[in-house]
Amino acid sequence: MNQAKPRVYVINGPNLNMLGKREPAVYGFLGLEEINRQLALAAKGLGLEIFFSQSNHEGVILDRIHEIFEENPAGIIINPGALTHTSVALRDALLLLSCPIVEVHLSNIYKREPFRHNSMLADIATGQLTGFGHYGYHMALNAIHQLLQIPV
Ligand code: DQA
Repeated sequence: MNQAKPRVYVINGPNLNMLGKREPAVYGFLGLEEINRQLALAAKGLGLEIFFSQSNHEGVILDRIHEIFEENPAGIIINPGALTHTSVALRDALLLLSCPIVEVHLSNIYKREPFRHNSMLADIATGQLTGFGHYGYHMALNAIHQLLQIPV
């Protein structure tokens, strides 16, 4: 029998399409496409189905979360970019979901300007990974895999 794989969704917010070009000293030299390519390989190895989205528009991200709500998600990995610090609407949308939610930041937001120290998601996310560069997405994927207790 062909059993459906658990579905993990990776959501990236504003300006993250510019990774690789954008402040590389802060965010690293890898582009989002390459990060996602590596994540897709890792997900395959873990037996997870993975879906990627990125938008520079808050409403588009909210609409995507509403769609994901209908798709039986097993886990969410989200780097909301600057929306982390401002968006009550994003927080409210994520509250729809009952699966693990991992908040990822490439940079360590707590080492940066004070306005980045506050995350609207920190207390509703399952956990937060901040400061590990693109490896944070892999840590998040592994964390979700562990939480799902899939035998390897
Ligand atoms: C970020 C940190 C945010 O403060 C910033 O606005 C971003 C990227 C990170 O990945 O380190 O766009 O989420």
